[in-house]
Amino acid sequence: MAILIDGKQRVLVQGITGREGLARTRLMKGYGTCVVAGVTPGRGGTDVEGIPVFDTVSGACEAVGNIDVSVLFVPAPLVKGAAIEALESGIKLLVIVPDRVPIYDVLEIATIADRTDAAFVGPNTLGVLSPGRGVLGMVGGHAASAQSWFVPGPVGISSRSGGITASMAYYLARRGIGCSTMVHVGGDPIVGMPHAEVLKHFEADDDTQLVVMYGEIGTSQEEDAATLIETGGFTKPLIACIGGKAARSGTRFSHAGAIIEGERGTYEGKVTRLRAVGAHIVDSFTDIPAVTANLLSKLQPRPRKVQKSAASSRNVRDSLHWKTAVTQVKPNEIRLRGYRIDELMGQITFSQAIHLALTGQLPSPEVGGLIDAMLVASIDHGATPPSALAARTAASTGAAMNAALAVGLLSINQHHGGAIQACMEMIRDVQKRGADSKGVLDEAAFAFVAACKQSNARLPGFGHRIHTHDPRTARLLALAEQTGLAGKGVAVIRALEKALATHGTILPINVDGAMAALLVDIGIQPELGNTFFMMARLPGLVAHIYEEKTRERPMRPIHPVDHEYDGAQNAGTNEK
Ligand SMILES: CC(C)(COP(=O)(O)OP(=O)(O)OC[C@H]1O[C@@H](n2cnc3c(N)ncnc32)[C@H](O)[C@@H]1OP(=O)(O)O)[C@@H](O)C(=O)NCCC(=O)NCCS
Repeated sequence: MAILIDGKQRVLVQGITGREGLARTRLMKGYGTCVVAGVTPGRGGTDVEGIPVFDTVSGACEAVGNIDVSVLFVPAPLVKGAAIEALESGIKLLVIVPDRVPIYDVLEIATIADRTDAAFVGPNTLGVLSPGRGVLGMVGGHAASAQSWFVPGPVGISSRSGGITASMAYYLARRGIGCSTMVHVGGDPIVGMPHAEVLKHFEADDDTQLVVMYGEIGTSQEEDAATLIETGGFTKPLIACIGGKAARSGTRFSHAGAIIEGERGTYEGKVTRLRAVGAHIVDSFTDIPAVTANLLSKLQPRPRKVQKSAASSRNVRDSLHWKTAVTQVKPNEIRLRGYRIDELMGQITFSQAIHLALTGQLPSPEVGGLIDAMLVASIDHGATPPSALAARTAASTGAAMNAALAVGLLSINQHHGGAIQACMEMIRDVQKRGADSKGVLDEAAFAFVAACKQSNARLPGFGHRIHTHDPRTARLLALAEQTGLAGKGVAVIRALEKALATHGTILPINVDGAMAALLVDIGIQPELGNTFFMMARLPGLVAHIYEEKTRERPMRPIHPVDHEYDGAQNAGTNEK
């Protein structure tokens, strides 16, 4: 295990679209942290690195389900509101990165955290990192550096300095010693999780054998840690290094919280208290790796807590406990996203149920109708697409229906059926550029196409190997207009088509492009875009597999293009 972040937590980022929010979301995601949503008021409906952004925390919780931790990158004056919003939405751990948060705001946050049985790290914190498991905040700076600098192991780190949190783990790693978790408690006079609270977490963590604590003058954090040891609340070896030895009373040492007032918070006072309770005091930060190595070599492995009693087996069960917000099943009752399935049956279409399952929102019949149209549009496109050929080839070998179907689905990739997500991301990008340039969408589209041309990049969602005027595209876009659902997505794709033409390239919007525009307009996240193609194509693939198995001989050579349609002609139309 590790403490606070062990890779399982579902994480929210407040202020995700800001400069730091964006950069550190990349770090967290790249390091493997499960970031499920972001919040910035006014930016709901967009996304960052594929992570959906919401206007409010409650909106995020409603859409993505359970959230365990929120990391705040919100400017200091706005932290109180943002933190309270998260706590009142039921989030149990906050990591408050910003500095200069007013002390009275921190006290108010602490009161509400107490009331809601939650905790917070910071403010003014670099965050928390458990090597190989996850990071909350900005420890390590970038995913690649965090991956190369820190290694997992038995040492817990609790530090009042952000820089020393990271450098301590780095120098320990260079000596071959890894860390369970590194916690930067924050540099302010009042923090949500001071050393003593961190030590309590490390005491309960089987993976932590020893803790290194970096303290500073000012506050009573180190004295409180000594009291915890004295009263038996922390029993593992503690190595302590206290910064600010040379500071005089009244001098501030680096951080806002590192200030001696009168006799309170002095270096000598802290060292004396800690030494008296058996902590190993090191004078210099650079001595820590050697002292740690020495102590670790003498440690008997602590027995892991044995699971014997009913209570301990309940602990095991609790630790395996997890949550889902998709479907609730009780005897004689099934609820999809909260709706009774037997009441939905006969009332909503399958397409509305798809929307409900994927987003948690029951859509209007018009939105359901538009999804229906998309699914019909992509149900099949003959025997030449790679997925149909692959599925038929597998079927011809005697593969079972499920195996052949899987082969077909696995052939849907970037260049076949997989352009929808990329196109949705492009639409959002151009939409944002348009909004940034005061709504001049055509100009944003023109500039975007110019940049693509310069770098020889293809625009996803445009052009088709067979159709110059894809009949599905025109119909989908017309349906969106008729139902009043055409919005910014449709506007952007049309602006891009126009911009391509202005640049001298006549490329039609293809069905992927039309679907992408419509999916943006009905509020679907880009990562789900390609799944609409997969869901649509499934029956078509079944039809090909079934036909291959019932009509053709096994192991026939299947020509990719030389085949002819001999099915019904002009069914259901007035065409002759
Ligand atoms: C918090 C901090 C990181 C923000 O800096 P920043 O990313 O440059 O600021 P930005 O203005 O670009 O971004 C803040 C975002 O929060 C958003 N925001 C404001 N109120 C919000 C709220 N209640 N909920 C969610 N987001 C909110 C803003 O809208 C903005 O997003 P936008 O740019 O898309 O509009 C910065 O103020 C700070 O404190 N830096 C020091 C951090 C530090 O050193 N910590 C200690 C380490 S030892």
